[in-house]
Amino acid sequence: MSGPTTQSPPEKPMIGIGLLRVDGRRKVTGAARYAAEFLVPNQPNGQNLAYAVFLGADIARGSIATIDITKAEQADGVVGILTFKNAPRLHDAASVKGVADPKSGSRLVPLQDEHVRFFGQPVALAVARTLEQAQHAASLIEVQYKAEAPSIDFDTATPRHVGNTSHGDAEAAFAQAAAKIEATYDIARENHQPMELHATLAEWQGEKLTLHEKTQGVVNTAEIVAAQFGLKPEDVTVISPFVGGAFGSALRVWPHTIMAAMAARQFKCPVKLILSRRQMVTSVGYRPRSRQKVRLGADANAKLTAIIHEATGETSSFETYVENVLTSTGFLHNCTNVATRYSTVALDTGTPTPMRGPGVSTGLYALESAMDELAYAAGIDPIELRLRNEPDKDLAKNLPFSSRATKECYRIGAQRFGWSKRAAQPGTMRDGHWRLGYGMATATYPSNQDKADVRVIFDIGGTVRVETAASDIGPGTYTSLTQIASDNLGIGIEHITVDLGDTRFPKAPSEGGSKTLATAGSATLAVCRDARQQLAALVGEENVADPPKWRAIFRRQGKRQLVVTGGSATADSREGFSCNAFGAIFAEVAVDADTGQIKVRRLTGVYGLGRIVNPRLTRSQVLGGMMQGIGMALLERTRLDPRFGNPTDGNLADYLIPVCKDAPLVDIVFVNEDDPHVNPLGVKGVGEIALCGIAPAIANAVYHATGKRVRALPILPENLMA
Ligand code: MOS
Repeated sequence: MSGPTTQSPPEKPMIGIGLLRVDGRRKVTGAARYAAEFLVPNQPNGQNLAYAVFLGADIARGSIATIDITKAEQADGVVGILTFKNAPRLHDAASVKGVADPKSGSRLVPLQDEHVRFFGQPVALAVARTLEQAQHAASLIEVQYKAEAPSIDFDTATPRHVGNTSHGDAEAAFAQAAAKIEATYDIARENHQPMELHATLAEWQGEKLTLHEKTQGVVNTAEIVAAQFGLKPEDVTVISPFVGGAFGSALRVWPHTIMAAMAARQFKCPVKLILSRRQMVTSVGYRPRSRQKVRLGADANAKLTAIIHEATGETSSFETYVENVLTSTGFLHNCTNVATRYSTVALDTGTPTPMRGPGVSTGLYALESAMDELAYAAGIDPIELRLRNEPDKDLAKNLPFSSRATKECYRIGAQRFGWSKRAAQPGTMRDGHWRLGYGMATATYPSNQDKADVRVIFDIGGTVRVETAASDIGPGTYTSLTQIASDNLGIGIEHITVDLGDTRFPKAPSEGGSKTLATAGSATLAVCRDARQQLAALVGEENVADPPKWRAIFRRQGKRQLVVTGGSATADSREGFSCNAFGAIFAEVAVDADTGQIKVRRLTGVYGLGRIVNPRLTRSQVLGGMMQGIGMALLERTRLDPRFGNPTDGNLADYLIPVCKDAPLVDIVFVNEDDPHVNPLGVKGVGEIALCGIAPAIANAVYHATGKRVRALPILPENLMA
């Protein structure tokens, strides 16, 4: 069936193969362009380009009394200065809610009034010919503030109740429980700290705007920007082919994007705005600081009879950000009496935003730490406690699980990790002067799916293009979609190009919540199957995988392309099921008996993630999540000076993230899991669960090593010194 010069069609499926990243060469050679690297599309030499630098407020609450831009305006190279006095008024688009916008409150529209709501809030924008000139001009802007005492202190501010859930009667059951645990757990504020700085390049042509943008969602960005400028979404083109990490920080449209577009319109030139590392800490959200109280009740056989889980998270004064800290508490373990309660503390600070494993990783830290405490209280092994409390359905939703691999994960994980070598008594395992500890935790994250559209283009040149506006923020979406397209088109990957991150492609949701493969992947599967049939009808069934044949037929028919567009909705098969990924995490730590220094020596993660499209990339994503989990457990925190509201860890020297030297030996296993319900591809998503459960497994190991329960993250050496 193949002609003399053709590649034969793929013999074995590409799905399931650890294909190297199809964009890997572009990334390592610098050919892949990130937002800040673009020049002006319509002026390739970029000579008209201006740079914008904003000045952030250095108070956390109050207003601008006077603002003097005279000196700044006269500085070399300055194109113009924007403040609330001369910036264009934008539409009040507060009712337009975008991805990651809190359900209540109003998004901050920059440079519209004199009010200051948080430290670092943009109060002026300097636009100049070069970045350095813009930085210098910004430094010459003189602002006098009417400062008010800010409310910054999470501990003393009054929480506001947001919502609760319950099934059964948890308070009554807790009161009667034979064994009880009650403990409070804190997690510090964390910042995303992606390698790539957030950046925008804005260019207007008449009433049409083009943005080169660091974003996890081009469609969402176009919609929000359009609403604020009073444009139609189709008049805003957003281009974001590559994203150098984001972890949630690029889900929302932030003020810097709006300011770049504002300045480009006002000064009639393309404007590039790149946040500094310091500005990243106050400008693109963060994981909110949280405090959680967990009460667990159990009977004499260590079966859970009550779970009461209360969480408080920080938010801003102008938006109420709420995350799903408590969702998994209702179904992770078997308990008929569960109550949850969420509250927020509104502070004079910027609004939080989703950060990897948003809410769930926070909630699991407390729940899985409390489970560990209960295991010691009941005198049984932490895995045995979980096995005794393994649910056969989701009791919160009263639905069966689409699939749930926890028991297999515990078994395989325990065996590979060597859990049987764990001494029951904490503080008794040693390696020289290092105290050793083993800890474990259960991991979960919801497996969501959304709707997406995809376009498949067979070209007379013999190539196939697959286009969708989905993003690839690093997991390898270009690669996995190429594999899915290859199998479902019946065409070798060497003929296929996947294009992402552009509003000119068919609509797809933002890359977030671990649902891109379930969403854009399922759509790619559906549209490629349809496209294959259409091509087959055109060229004859046998020749689908044979580009020269379709080229010849296209030529004969005077056709340049065959374009097939379609989409997929949420799978009907999900109805009636609770769809989640599950895993079991095992950690070995060593704690220096004298200094309290903590090293994570080993991490084992065993996961049921449905079908694994690309084991290499899935493993890589879990590796990254494990490293970030070490950061959450032992290193990362952003503190605010209570007097001024400024972050005191606002740079990468003070905000510690794990480096290679912190990396443990890692063992990552995916169990075979065939989930026919979750979506047509059978995939469960990886990005979020990769972080979930790591921090509690490490925290539990630290307790096991030392006998000292530190109920706050990050766990620091000084917490362990007697
Ligand atoms: Mo993820 S926090 O949905 O980028």
